[in-house]
Formats: sequence, C-alpha cells, structure tokens
Amino acid sequence: MSKRKLGQSTTLVEGGRRKEWRGRLVNVPVERASTVLFESVNEIHGSRPALGSYRYGLQGTATHWALSEALTSLEPGAAGTVLYPTGLAAITTPLLTLLSPGDELLVPDNVYGPTRKFCETILKRLKIATRYYDPLVAADIAGVIGETTRVILLESPGSLTMEVQDVPAICAVARERGIATVLDNTWATPLLFPALAAGVDISVLAATKYVGGHADVMLGAATATAAYYQRLQTATWDMGFAVSPDDAWLGSRGLRTMAVRLKQHEESALKVANWLKARSDVGLVLHPALPDCPGHEVWKRDFKGSSGLFSFELKAADKATRAKFVDSLTLFGIGYSWGGYESLALPVDPVRTVSKAPAPNLVRLHIGLEDADDLIADLESAFDQAGR
Ligand SMILES: Cc1ncc(COP(=O)(O)O)c(C=O)c1O
Repeated sequence: MSKRKLGQSTTLVEGGRRKEWRGRLVNVPVERASTVLFESVNEIHGSRPALGSYRYGLQGTATHWALSEALTSLEPGAAGTVLYPTGLAAITTPLLTLLSPGDELLVPDNVYGPTRKFCETILKRLKIATRYYDPLVAADIAGVIGETTRVILLESPGSLTMEVQDVPAICAVARERGIATVLDNTWATPLLFPALAAGVDISVLAATKYVGGHADVMLGAATATAAYYQRLQTATWDMGFAVSPDDAWLGSRGLRTMAVRLKQHEESALKVANWLKARSDVGLVLHPALPDCPGHEVWKRDFKGSSGLFSFELKAADKATRAKFVDSLTLFGIGYSWGGYESLALPVDPVRTVSKAPAPNLVRLHIGLEDADDLIADLESAFDQAGR
C-alpha cells in the first residue's frame, strides 16, 4: 500500500494489532502473567523495564501493549500511552509525577469533582497548592500563572457545565513559560479533539467511558509527548500501578468500534438537545455544539464533532421537582459515569470557587445508543409527571 496517512477509523481498527502479538488471531489475546521466565541469569540481569518487552507483570504483556499502542496511534505527536486502573488514576498520577512540595497547580473551576477532592486532600497534604481558574480564561491564563506554578490542568468541556476551554491558547502560554499541561480529554477522545497537536503535553482519557463503551470496565490512559512519556511511565511503575489484562483487553475491544459509536452518540444527543432547547420549561442547554454553551465558538473552531454528554437547566424547578423528573425516566438509568451504550440522567449541582456556574439546577444526560425518539418520549413523559 502507498504511504498515504490512514484515516482515524482505520487507525482504530489497525492500532496495536501487531502480528507478533496476535499471531494468527484477529485480536491480541488476554495474556495473564505475574512472573516471566528468563533463559539465564545473564538475561534477567540484562532486562530493563520497557513497554513491548516481557519482564514482569507490572510492565504488562502484549494485551496491555496493544491497547497502549492503539491509543498512541490516535494522537499525532504522541510518544506513548500509560495505562491506569481508572480514569481518576490517569489524572492523579501525572500530577504526582510532575509536582513537588512548594509547587502550585492551576485547576479549572469546573473540574471533575473527584479531581478537585484529590487536590484538596492528598496534594494539600504534600504541600502542593491548588489555585482554581475560570475555565474560560484563554490566553489570560498568563495573568493567573504565579511564581511557583508548575502544572496547568485542563478539562474541556468541563464536568457538569460543559464550558469549552481555549486549549491551544492556554497551552501556548504554558509552553512558553516551561509549565506542563495535562488535559482531561474524556468527552472528546482524540477522535474529536487530537489534544497533543493542540499543544497539550499529557492527554488523559477516562477509558472507562467511550473507549470501553459498555459500562463494564474501569480503565484510564495518559498519552504524552516525548518530553513527558518516559518520566510518566517510569513513575507509574515506581508507584506500582498495573491494569488487569482482562480490562486492557476490554479496552481494546471497545476501542475498535469507538468511531461508529461516537457518531451515533453525537447524532442522538444533538436531536435530544435541540428538542429540549425548544421547550419553555427548559433554560440553558449546555451542549458544546449549541450556542448556549460557554465556549461554543471555541468548540466550532477546534473540535471535529460532539459526543453524547451534556447538561440542561430545569427552569423554575426546585430540587424535589428535579428529583421527581429524573425518577420518572424509565429509559435513562440513574448512576455515575457515562460513555456506555446506555442513557443516563443525573441531577447535578456545580461546585465553584472563583467563577460562577452558567446555571443552577442542572440535569446531566448521557445519550446512549437507544432510538433518540424513544428517549425524547421518555423525557416528555417525565416532564409531564414532574409538572403534576
Ligand atoms: C470528566 C471525567 N474525568 C475523569 C473521570 C474518572 O474516570 P473513572 O471513573 O474511570 O475513574 C470521570 C468519571 O466520571 C469523568 O467524568
């Protein structure tokens, strides 16, 4: 075949499926191992921890390397991908790797709740300061950066309120100042937002969501540039993190269909979001592809599409009415996480330190792979029941 660059869907299918790892099978199989046997003392003493080389279970087997390589191939500019047992660990480990006592971390004010908690408990105990910034700050981050700032965390769109950050502008300032950037790119995945090409140093996925895609696995991944990859991989091994081969295998299995699933999530979520937008009992619809969403213009400029997660405001409703609305849904489950084939609904109350949330009294929806018309009928019936 000619040397033309492969499309993203082909890369999703081909990535990590090396013949030497899968043999004659289509998929790289589940390889379970703690101990790896060496031929001689000389060989074991000469072995070094490295991805792609059998050494000890901690460094993984072909099952892990296949997923890691597939994720790396999706991010132009990436040197490698480190796997984690959860998405949260894929956020906290880069922070622990890059920060030391006395350093400061900048965190967007709409950050995923457990990330906020990690900063306020474990980082605080390690004497690493966290300062929150308005997620819409863009190039003005230059004025927020302090003497001791070493890392800027980004999350775009942000948890619950979906603000889209000007990632290229923030990362350009950070790189100029020698500050590392870590982006939680879970909503878009590299398919909709290739983060390293936008200037990010470490791009994180809670692979529990769209990579897994079936609400049956906890998994995280951090894809990094050459300046950070080896340091992050070594620190992760030093901290002892390993992913079960079954979970890595589920990640690879989900990944192969991620592009087609995302297209359907996008189409159905837009249909539901536009339907909500037309209702008089709905206030803001915080979907990055709709103009109500702060940062919508940035989304139009930078993203290749949208996924299935967004929030909306229930106008003139108290918390009890909102709970009644969510409880009345039958096709939407009530639960944490998102990115699976199933639809979910959750009442959410944004927590803020330095900025104001676009709206209170939000409901967050994940639009799954059901027929969008059925989901709309379910929502309509819940509005009726909540209004009674
Ligand atoms: C934006 C975001 N980042 C990270 C995570 C953490 O992922 P995990 O649940 O795999 O730890 C979540 C989980 O809901 C999330 O919504």
